[in-house]
Amino acid sequence: MMHSVYCDMNCSDEFRRRQLYEGQLFIYSPRQAMLNFIEHARGMIEDSFGGIDPRRAQFEMPVERYVEICTPLKPRFIHHPETKKILQAVVESYGCDLDKTYIDVPRLRMVTSDGYLTSGVGYAHHPHRDTWFSAPMMQINWWVPIYDISTEQSMAFHPGYFDTPLKNGSEEFNYYEWNSVGRKDASKHIKTDTRKQPKPEEPVNLFPQFRAVLPAGGAVLFSAAHLHSTVPNTSGTARYSIDFRTVHLDDVIAKRGAENLDSRCHGTSLRDFMKGTDLTRMPEDIVKAYDDVDAPEEAKIFKPETAVSAS
Ligand SMILES: [Fe+2]
Repeated sequence: MMHSVYCDMNCSDEFRRRQLYEGQLFIYSPRQAMLNFIEHARGMIEDSFGGIDPRRAQFEMPVERYVEICTPLKPRFIHHPETKKILQAVVESYGCDLDKTYIDVPRLRMVTSDGYLTSGVGYAHHPHRDTWFSAPMMQINWWVPIYDISTEQSMAFHPGYFDTPLKNGSEEFNYYEWNSVGRKDASKHIKTDTRKQPKPEEPVNLFPQFRAVLPAGGAVLFSAAHLHSTVPNTSGTARYSIDFRTVHLDDVIAKRGAENLDSRCHGTSLRDFMKGTDLTRMPEDIVKAYDDVDAPEEAKIFKPETAVSAS
């Protein structure tokens, strides 16, 4: 049951992971390593918009142009040589053992205001658990705004569902099919998004909900099993954020994580994670224990080049 939000808690990563698996949240004030990270991201965003304030760019251009700018920006951020280096330093500075902590590539997201763009690169996430999208139950999500945010630019947790199953479409989701087909040409999805994603299949009580309203470089850590969604942005300016995921190898091996209440998807995203020290992939014999379906090797790993929006 979610009952606590730990703020700037001085504790071990081990303790933190246990609390996260129980549904608690951890919130951190900006730390230097994270400030370096968002400064790097902000520089790339501002370069892409060429002098136009990214937060107000939607008022300066047609949505097609906005998509044209953001579509290459997202993979460029992932592949920039500095991105991985800074991220390793970030994860270490929050007390994670890089020898045991595996990190997925960080994603850059933009949520424009007042429904300017709600699909494709600007996908507004309906309530979901990342575990419906083949995230392992020990996955920890890190969410970081790049500019100061207001409550209308935040993300929402729906804490009542941490212990309550929700009827959903995850049974139809196969991560490897999603990698090979689903992400392709997502930049074309400007007005609507037709890609099949696991969604709730019964009414969701969006309240009570919890939103972290953070300064730029603040961070919220949460279990991938938490039901969460994008808050409708009515603030008048776009939100830009980074999120990334970590898993601890010992917990992967021991299958220790949040409880699986209602995820029935196929395949696993564990092959996307890279070791904090040398960025090598997780040993295949460990990942295999999570695999329930077969797929060609190239489909088993996420391809940032073709990705627009992930869980
Ligand atoms: Fe998510």
